[in-house]
Amino acid sequence: MAKLSESFIDNLLSRVDVVEIVGSRVPLKKQGKDYSARCPFHDERSPSFTVSPSKQFYYCFGCGAKGTAISFLMNYDRLTFMDAVEDLAKRAGIEIPKDARPADTDGSRDMYAALDASSQFFQKQLAASDTAKAYIKQRGLDAKSMATFAIGYAPDSFNGLMDALGTDQRRKDLLEKTGMLSKSDNGRVYDKFRARLMFPIMDRRGRVIAFGGRVLAKDDGPKYLNSPETPLFHKGRELYGLWQVKQAHNKIPRLIVVEGYMDVIALFQHGITQAVATLGTATTPDHAELLFRNSADVVFCFDGDNAGRAAAWKAVESIVPRMRDGRQAFFLFLPDGEDPDTIVKSEGADGFEQRIAHAMTLSDYFFDELSKGVRLDTLEGKARLAESVKPYLAKMPDGAFRDLMAERLQSITGVGAAPENEIAKPAPARAGISPKRSLVRAVITLLLQQPVLAKEITAPFEFSNVPLPGMGLLLALLETLHSRPEINTASLLDLFAEHEDAGALQKLATADMPGDEALWRQEFLDAIAQLQKQARQQRTAELRQRMASSGLSAEETDELRQLLKPRSH
Ligand code: UTP
Ligand code: MN
Repeated sequence: MAKLSESFIDNLLSRVDVVEIVGSRVPLKKQGKDYSARCPFHDERSPSFTVSPSKQFYYCFGCGAKGTAISFLMNYDRLTFMDAVEDLAKRAGIEIPKDARPADTDGSRDMYAALDASSQFFQKQLAASDTAKAYIKQRGLDAKSMATFAIGYAPDSFNGLMDALGTDQRRKDLLEKTGMLSKSDNGRVYDKFRARLMFPIMDRRGRVIAFGGRVLAKDDGPKYLNSPETPLFHKGRELYGLWQVKQAHNKIPRLIVVEGYMDVIALFQHGITQAVATLGTATTPDHAELLFRNSADVVFCFDGDNAGRAAAWKAVESIVPRMRDGRQAFFLFLPDGEDPDTIVKSEGADGFEQRIAHAMTLSDYFFDELSKGVRLDTLEGKARLAESVKPYLAKMPDGAFRDLMAERLQSITGVGAAPENEIAKPAPARAGISPKRSLVRAVITLLLQQPVLAKEITAPFEFSNVPLPGMGLLLALLETLHSRPEINTASLLDLFAEHEDAGALQKLATADMPGDEALWRQEFLDAIAQLQKQARQQRTAELRQRMASSGLSAEETDELRQLLKPRSH
């Protein structure tokens, strides 16, 4: 890969706003020049997470998380570097140079291409199949839904896909690797999906990574067949429909978790464009994290039967450890025999919304469930409830919600204040800048606050030989700033992340500069002038000493004369 140039990254970061990127995922409060929030990377009650619009970085005084818009996306959305860059570039309307795209070292690009081609193939097949089209019609799917969800049809054949796309061994291998083929005991390879309506599953960047396939006729094997786990597809980490939901919303107000593909699509078609489905699995901790990272409010919607109840409790176990303050979860149980698809068809979007509005809160559902079969009018019953609630409380992030749950337990049972939380909280260590500000430190601080100040001076610097603490670091900073004039504070810190003084730099950059921003330039120039003066004094002393001991060359004598001339500053 031709690596992305530094100037490309600098330019990219100068065109996106870290406040906007973070703010669309974490509620931020304006505080002075900066924004603050409870840190999304560790559990805490009071906000020690700061986002600075002027320095374009985020920083947590509690856990030390820090970085640029790029690192935020990498850590929060769990994107790779390249994916984060692509996201931001798209947002900023910047093209990524073609030769800078990553090489296909793991063969994933070919796999994505094979799955994309498969999806195209299935869509064409659908257009050509009367049976499939009749089924679509019967299910009430309109053309827009068909396109939005790229629904297709796998023909009733053992080698339809293979013949179309597996035209040589390499291609056949790709189809196999992406889970599109099955192998019989005697080694014969054939299409995995046959005579099925095909639902492509997209990843968080809209690439097809797997399929779900539904039979058209009742007794044609299992109702749904999903792709197996492949290098691209781990079903416990994906949510069907999330890509489409993200396309429909800048900021997702609420996510509704339903059980089936058809539920997601039917809701979408009726204007409820916020539903996602797990892929025939229980809600995993990965799902819970993914859900809350995309929306602070999540409604879990299940069948009212036993299987639905069991699935709901699984969801509770996955979300409880993730209930930071500000997040909300609700539970909606539908009448037996109904699912969101049937409800939205019979009651309309309004009817479904009505039900959602009356969904149970997590806390109600939680206590209801754990109180089942427990006689709360007895001491024994209360003790039992307290015992069953405690392990969950211990897993909850520290915060007001956990306090309220503990209080509720106490009001029901009279037992126990909040037991200590298991999760170790890093002590918030406020970074304090030492009041003693040396000259070099002052210059470094100003450069970190406002990197453009570096343009005020040009190399070579007379002061580079002055043996002051921090001089090496200052020179390194200036050199970087001169070679990368567009760099912002956040990227500069990134660049020096491995430097022995990285910690000090972070502190200086994070500290609030006293004084008027309009005067920083003058302050900077004054400090530089002082440094120059020190450099001259030092050189003068040096030359004088040499003159007394061993004498000076003609040039040195001239230099000394220049140095001793009176100056304006
Ligand atoms: P449902 O049987 O409730 O599916 O299974 P549905 O979406 O309502 O399907 P329609 O309306 O009959 O078409 C819910 C989900 O469970 C998984 C699928 O992901 C399905 O969407 N499932 C179901 C399987 O993986 N295999 C099956 O055999 C059945
Ligand atoms: Mn259904």
